Amino acid sequence: MKNGTAAPKKRLLKALAGEKPDRPPVWFMRQAGRYLPEYKQVRGVAGSFLNLCYNPELAEEVTLQPIRRFGFDAAILFSDILVVPDALGQEVAFREGEGPVLEPITELGQLGDLDPGAVKERLAPVYETVSRLSSSLPRDVTLIGFAGAPWTVATYMVGGRGSPDQGAAKAWAYRAPDEFQQLIDLLVEATVVHLSAQVEQGAEAIQIFDTWAGSLPDLSFRRFALEPMKAITAKLKARYPDLPVIAFPRGAGPMAETYFRETGVDALSLDTGMQLHWARERLQSLGCVQGNLDPLLLVAGGEEMRRQATYILEELGDGPFVFNLGHGIVPQTPPDHVAELVELVKNWKA
Ligand code: CP3
Repeated sequence: MKNGTAAPKKRLLKALAGEKPDRPPVWFMRQAGRYLPEYKQVRGVAGSFLNLCYNPELAEEVTLQPIRRFGFDAAILFSDILVVPDALGQEVAFREGEGPVLEPITELGQLGDLDPGAVKERLAPVYETVSRLSSSLPRDVTLIGFAGAPWTVATYMVGGRGSPDQGAAKAWAYRAPDEFQQLIDLLVEATVVHLSAQVEQGAEAIQIFDTWAGSLPDLSFRRFALEPMKAITAKLKARYPDLPVIAFPRGAGPMAETYFRETGVDALSLDTGMQLHWARERLQSLGCVQGNLDPLLLVAGGEEMRRQATYILEELGDGPFVFNLGHGIVPQTPPDHVAELVELVKNWKA
């Protein structure tokens, strides 16, 4: 890690370490993106979404935009979870209005074409973006690196696109679990390479997105969501003992408790549906929690947004806590609502 130890500990890093900073730190998933006119401008210059991800100067710029505008406590690297399959050799395209498209991988024989050894070199521009940010960010802002969790990335690799039920990946996981496990293992390895490279270039904390964890039944959740996360965390902590790890097992419900206990992560990002009182008793007692305002409340704004944001602060603001959304910002979000919400969090007193 690049950063020295002389400076006082940043607000986000305090919360992730289980301490209580002067006020809850605040950042939002997908805080860079199409709801900002200045993002759309840079995105237009880049041409395509992936060109933007692979252009260090432009990716640095869009990462900084929400920091300048709203004064968030953390910046999250601008990239995507699907750069990993792209770097493994399964080409990814983002088609306008259609989301990601990949040539599906559905059998064991195709795994041989994927090369985890290529990830570090192919994603060099992403690591350069991290390095640039680590010098250009304001001193009190934490730089978060990220990756997709193996299960969620696998749902796109096997399905070839987003799907409402993750049917293609489930079909393989249920028909031949030991074969599917080989894809998961390959992704564990690639994810550790990808995250380690980000840490080497200055990422101070990392978040792992398991967007589709909640679609797995108990036994499969343990095998394909919990166990891979435990393996990734162990490997990262062996190399970087002080690296804070945040996990986002979206939709995990009550399985989040076992997940938090067994994976060894430092913080759990809560989705919109999480019951807050339960989360305080069963999750926050184990470590830092992050979340969980409904992104659609941020679209609506007004009294209902303020009321529900205040309720989250009252329920969770006394323990180790990071204010965030329950999922990413959506494109129709008015930037004024974001500004108002950030101020509300900054001015809240426990
Ligand atoms: O949070 C941030 O600001 C950092 C950047 C970031 C993006 N994607 C940028 C992005 C992060 C952390 C992600 C994670 C991601 N990507 C996830 C996990 C979190 C989640 O939201 O559930 C997933 C499942 C993906 C895959 C992905 N990327 C999809 C399904 C799509 C298409 C949907 C859409 O919103 O268009 C993307 C594209 C994408 N990733 C965009 C951005 C800003 C929009 C593309 C554009 O600007 O044209």
